[in-house]
Amino acid sequence: FQRWKGKSYLAEKDFDATSLLEIVDLAKSLRAKTSSERTKHLEGKRIALVFEKDSTRTRCAFEVAAYRQGALTTYLGPTGSHLGREESVADTAKVLGRMYDAIAYRGFAQETVETLAQHSGMPVYNALTDQWHPTQSLADVMTMTDHVTKALSEISFCFVGDGRNNVARSLLITGALLGMDVRICSPSALWPDSKTVAQAEEFARSCGARVLVSDNPEEALLGVDFIYSDVWLSMGEPKELMHSRVEMLAPYQVNKELLELVGHGNWRFMHCLPALHDRSTEAGSELGRLYGDSAFEVTDEIFNSERSIVFEQAENRLYTIEALMVATLS
Ligand code: CP
Ligand code: NVA
Repeated sequence: FQRWKGKSYLAEKDFDATSLLEIVDLAKSLRAKTSSERTKHLEGKRIALVFEKDSTRTRCAFEVAAYRQGALTTYLGPTGSHLGREESVADTAKVLGRMYDAIAYRGFAQETVETLAQHSGMPVYNALTDQWHPTQSLADVMTMTDHVTKALSEISFCFVGDGRNNVARSLLITGALLGMDVRICSPSALWPDSKTVAQAEEFARSCGARVLVSDNPEEALLGVDFIYSDVWLSMGEPKELMHSRVEMLAPYQVNKELLELVGHGNWRFMHCLPALHDRSTEAGSELGRLYGDSAFEVTDEIFNSERSIVFEQAENRLYTIEALMVATLS
């Protein structure tokens, strides 16, 4: 893993297709090993998990992956450390650099994770920022390739929803880098920024990927293998925005009618999770009470259908994060 050794993973755009696929392949081989076949590659390593936003999957994936590989983790949550309040990001990075071998960071600005990488002198993993979610896209590619046997260049997927968010932008760049047919379907007010689209188009030109950003579900969903959804309001965004998001995005709810536009029944539904699909949670009940059933990004019916592969994606977070740590640290 010479390509990865000692490297930080801050955004997909800094890597090429071969490098990204190397992690996916390693993740698949780590997943396939029985407990007696497994070797611990990270014995004695220490990983700091610096999370300024909450997490279920990503945090657990880092902790369990580290455990499987013999490494120690320390979790610093949204409160309780000095980061960003009493101590600068750079100073925190220098301190962690003297005690740990790597940092996983989840938070707001991409600059924060870049500053950590710059000043810690060790690999830093972006565990989600407002701009990118690069460990998610690795698990998503792994899951897609589990489900279809065709070449990546033959695989199509459409992200439906807030096209400006971290998951959408990461998937757009990843699909373009890997030569896939990648589509973003959102109202034009929520299209990814033009710089990211231009970058995706540039990657696409060199490898034959197809990139489509469209506000028209009929065009964007036609024939796709995977339909991908995410929350309409991301962590850290003001709650007051929800009203306008529901107004803009209700026509893009992933439901039975929308899926008719795919034109075949072989689609699969994906979501990074957590998802708002019913009123059983506190957030879901408030959303339903305020805006009604059209306020959920996906209907309960589709979310729980046999074509939904969301929990496989969640499980694959573990193996891809394990692979990333092994490739960069062992
Ligand atoms: N998909 C994802 O990143 O989930 P968590 O917020 O639970 O980590
Ligand atoms: N776009 C979502 C993804 C959560 C995993 C958010 O940033 O909240």
